[in-house]
Amino acid sequence: MPENGDQMTENGVVLQGDGLTKQFRSGDLVVDALRGVDITIKRGEIVAIIGPSGSGKSTLMGILGGLDSLTEGRLEVGGVDVTSMGENQLAEIRNAYIGFVFQQFNLMPTLTAVENVALPIQFASTRKFNPRERATELLTTFGLQDRLKNRPSQLSGGEQQRVAIARALANDPPLLLCDEPTGALDTENGNLVLDTLFQAQAKLGTAVIIVTHDPRVAERANRTLVMTDGRFGPAG
Ligand SMILES: Nc1ncnc2c1ncn2[C@@H]1O[C@H](COP(=O)(O)OP(=O)(O)OP(=O)(O)O)[C@@H](O)[C@H]1O
Ligand SMILES: [Mg+2]
Repeated sequence: MPENGDQMTENGVVLQGDGLTKQFRSGDLVVDALRGVDITIKRGEIVAIIGPSGSGKSTLMGILGGLDSLTEGRLEVGGVDVTSMGENQLAEIRNAYIGFVFQQFNLMPTLTAVENVALPIQFASTRKFNPRERATELLTTFGLQDRLKNRPSQLSGGEQQRVAIARALANDPPLLLCDEPTGALDTENGNLVLDTLFQAQAKLGTAVIIVTHDPRVAERANRTLVMTDGRFGPAG
């Protein structure tokens, strides 16, 4: 297993999926949520994924992040085949190499902004950073230096999402997976959150995948993938 983000992206490929297939079964009913998706994500690129509701975008994010298992196909994270990894190993990959940002911010309500961001560093098996220092630095980078000691209920939605992005970046993962990160925000806050994701790319070199219904995101991304019925189709 690679030791850190630099090694894992030696050939510039952060993540590669081949023929990713996911079926959900309940009783006799089979849903083909992913029908053979090929995807390659390179270091530091921002990729938007758009497509209609039910087309498989969130399913794909769950698979890429190791939150859900594949029915068929092969997935490499940083050159390591994770297709048949057990839950413990997968959890380690997740914590070290992949950050998650969801539509709901999912911050711990009783913790301050700094404490929320510091948490995943405290849980990391190999600690790369001083938790409080790193948390303060990231929040400052994202313009939240005056909100360090605020709890989530004392922050706006946009501020909460920026704290959630800082938390996702706490262990310096090479890849950030964002599922509709601006979905719960108004235009202004949505734009601030987008700026934050682009800052992460520019300053930390993080590759970012953004699932979105928002055409502004797709306009700013390096490339856009269009999902239809469990597959990527031609853009446009
Ligand atoms: N746990 C599950 N069990 C059964 N079917 C599921 C499950 N999760 C998703 N599906 C089905 O898989 C398909 C893809 O769902 P998915 O959530 O990936 O779509 P999506 O593109 O993210 O949609 P949206 O834009 O509405 O978020 C849908 O038909 C959905 O009903
Ligand atoms: Mg979804």
